[in-house]
Amino acid sequence: MTTDPLRLGIAGLGTVGAGVLKMIHKNAALIGLRTGRNIIVTAVSAQSRDKDRGVDLSGFAWEDDPVALAKRNDVDVFVELMGGSDGPAKDATEAAITAGKDVVTANKAMLAIHGQSLALAAEAAGRVIRFEAAVAGGIPVVKALAEGLAGNEITRILGVMNGSCNYILTRMENAGLSYEEIFAEAEGLGYLEADPNLDVGGIDAAHKLAILASIAFGTEIDFDKVVLEGIGAVTIEDIHAAADMGYRIKLLGVAQMTGRGLEQRMTPCLVPATSPLGQLEGGTNMVILEGADCGQIALRGAGAGEGPTASAVMSDVMDLARGLRLSTFGQPANTLVKTQPATTATPAPFYLRMQLLDKPGALAKIASVMGEAGVSVDRMRQYGHDAGNAPVLIVTHKTTRTAIDQVLVDFNQTQVVDGTPVVLRIESA
Ligand code: HSE
Repeated sequence: MTTDPLRLGIAGLGTVGAGVLKMIHKNAALIGLRTGRNIIVTAVSAQSRDKDRGVDLSGFAWEDDPVALAKRNDVDVFVELMGGSDGPAKDATEAAITAGKDVVTANKAMLAIHGQSLALAAEAAGRVIRFEAAVAGGIPVVKALAEGLAGNEITRILGVMNGSCNYILTRMENAGLSYEEIFAEAEGLGYLEADPNLDVGGIDAAHKLAILASIAFGTEIDFDKVVLEGIGAVTIEDIHAAADMGYRIKLLGVAQMTGRGLEQRMTPCLVPATSPLGQLEGGTNMVILEGADCGQIALRGAGAGEGPTASAVMSDVMDLARGLRLSTFGQPANTLVKTQPATTATPAPFYLRMQLLDKPGALAKIASVMGEAGVSVDRMRQYGHDAGNAPVLIVTHKTTRTAIDQVLVDFNQTQVVDGTPVVLRIESA
């Protein structure tokens, strides 16, 4: 095994890139001891050369073009920290593979959309793509799945994989404020991506879920089939009502292989308030991995930020320095199978909140509709009302979304339900 320094070319010097430079400088001694080699940066590339990042770039060659950086002869590993599914990030990653470089990236969007073709290209060229930082920031969940749990059949992955959404939802509850107010606050604090819909639309978290599902189930990434719903429609009324019933609302990702195919969902769900997921506050992430032999493993930590994400990038770089070369998604890309997406979700309890007209027999009518659709009520609560409609909350026993949709149609016929009920799935955590 060589003891020559491992030479990095880093493209993208935002929060993560600057964090990696700082970490390499600060922890040079321990990195050298742990890998048996020095890790050095030879060249960097970013949009602006002059921006103050709190790091001295004078010792590195500069490239305006990340593709040129990726091809440099003095670069062994191309570290892609630019982001974006296409454009310069993908061009430079492909150029690096063609030029015989290994790649470390934090780019969940690129992997979720082009991961299969990039993995095939890398493996054909005898190269490696690593991406611990792409999923849940500092939490080593890719390693946990691909290495720590490699001997297990994975049965389910679930978790909170977007810190900004968890910040918004928990802050709404703690401050008693609306989605719009807390969204504006989060944006003002710089907690949201440049395109906030990547966060609040659930897209960023769905990218991460699709990547984990590929590793867990040996399937080709199928981001397009993630059932996706963001948090924009979650109201403070539902957060309070859910809390009253013992739940908290989370943007929850779930992936599981079922007899009907691969189920992948990233949607607002209720989880028990006392569960580890229910207690997750602020911008923290939590991923729960369930294996047939290992049981349930819960990983919790910072899903974003300079230190946590740089830590994840460095774990990949250090693996390469040690000569550890895993297949991109835990097994050769040409052995990953195309997924059959599940057409229906696994049955679950549901939460319904509706406004009931204050008329005799109204409650009996909705109970009758639910009974006819085979939906059993577990708990029900009616709140006080002032000369208006009665707010009613129902938690069902386990049922299907199809049965719930039938109930919603039949509610219309009763003429006692005002407006469209809110429906949220309850996930056991
Ligand atoms: N914006 C993401 C989050 C971090 O809030 O979790 C990067 O994926």
